[in-house]
Amino acid sequence: MLLSRTAANAFKLSAMSAVKSNTARSITTATPTITQAFNAQKKANGNYTVTLIPGDGIGPEIAQSVKNIFAAANTPIDWEEVDVTPTIKDGKTSIPEEAIQSVRASTVALKGPLATPIGKGHVSLNLTLRRTFNLYANVRPCRSVAGFKTPYEDVNTVLIRENTEGEYSGIEHEVVNGVVQSIKLITKDASERVARYAFSYAESVGRDQVTAVHKANIMKLSDGLFLDVCRQVSKEFPNIKFNEVLLDRACLHIVSDPAIYADTVMVMPNLYGDILSDMCAGLIGGLGLTPSGNIGRDASIFEAVHGTAPDIAGQDKANPTALLLSGIMMLRHMRLNEQASNIEQAVFKTIAEGKTLTADLGGRATNTQYTNAVIQNLKA
Ligand SMILES: NC(=O)c1ccc[n+]([C@@H]2O[C@H](COP(=O)([O-])OP(=O)(O)OC[C@H]3O[C@@H](n4cnc5c(N)ncnc54)[C@H](O)[C@@H]3O)[C@@H](O)[C@H]2O)c1
Repeated sequence: MLLSRTAANAFKLSAMSAVKSNTARSITTATPTITQAFNAQKKANGNYTVTLIPGDGIGPEIAQSVKNIFAAANTPIDWEEVDVTPTIKDGKTSIPEEAIQSVRASTVALKGPLATPIGKGHVSLNLTLRRTFNLYANVRPCRSVAGFKTPYEDVNTVLIRENTEGEYSGIEHEVVNGVVQSIKLITKDASERVARYAFSYAESVGRDQVTAVHKANIMKLSDGLFLDVCRQVSKEFPNIKFNEVLLDRACLHIVSDPAIYADTVMVMPNLYGDILSDMCAGLIGGLGLTPSGNIGRDASIFEAVHGTAPDIAGQDKANPTALLLSGIMMLRHMRLNEQASNIEQAVFKTIAEGKTLTADLGGRATNTQYTNAVIQNLKA
């Protein structure tokens, strides 16, 4: 078989991640909780160091809002701010060494949106971060926000997307002029670690069902393997019910009656997760309200899923809620549950009051006014 250099590299990468995942498996089995990757110790001053990547466009404004609210809630965090402006090393996009070292040491980071320069030889920085830290599971909770009216009121699902392979393996080549091929790579190891993470996550947050989303009726080998691995892993979790659903059926269910998947954790290959999670974000009011976490073996990075919003950057108009909710996920990952719950109730109360909403949520408040309102709503 003829493979391009990218293809060969991708196979090499995938083989490497297969070897690494054996370690991940034993860690997960021993401690089946979502906090498995967070082992950092408090410093002498009682705080944890967390890497902050403010990002581009509105990133610095919404990152400042999170810092202000976290400080007002007495969150024991010292932020270590790093710049990830990419450099090209040996023709490849890379992240400054200082930023890599910071994330490795703190094992946890909060990240604002990053602009991907078009046509300058850069690959997506987000993809580079995922690969650098082997962030294998993308977690996107989607829950209706009380007080913010959308046509759907009872969305409450969690989507877990395999983050390293599938259609995103970057293995594409031209067979002959006018015929191209893109390879969807699915491995047993990557499927197993994301499936095991999904069951562990369900167990740790008290959800009693995991649903695998697939198209194994069409992609019998690739999705067939993913599904088969999910079935095998489900046997290790007898207290969690296991369901399977075809991707198209899942989409129909969710837009017809999202309650069908309330209290479920849905796990799926990369591309399906990309599409389904944005669809679910739409049901709860858009990307401005959607948090996410990228869980890896050595580090985890939490981030808003929206972009840099260049049209409103620098105007104090950005809504920081998605980054704030990502920060709350991060606090729970760090077992700082008390501060997480306090900030969360303040955010939801502010939105439910409806007096200080940013323009994207139909209000007229600035980011600063919204941030101050959340601080006012914190419990002492
Ligand atoms: N995770 C990431 O880092 C990430 C994700 C998506 C896009 N991007 C990058 O962001 C840049 C712009 O992308 P885009 O314009 O397609 O999408 P975008 O999400 O930046 O903007 C889409 C629309 O949503 C609005 N919006 C987004 N976030 C908002 C917020 N927090 N508050 C208020 N309004 C908000 C914007 O003003 C804009 O009208 C591109 O360079 C893209 O590569 C980065």
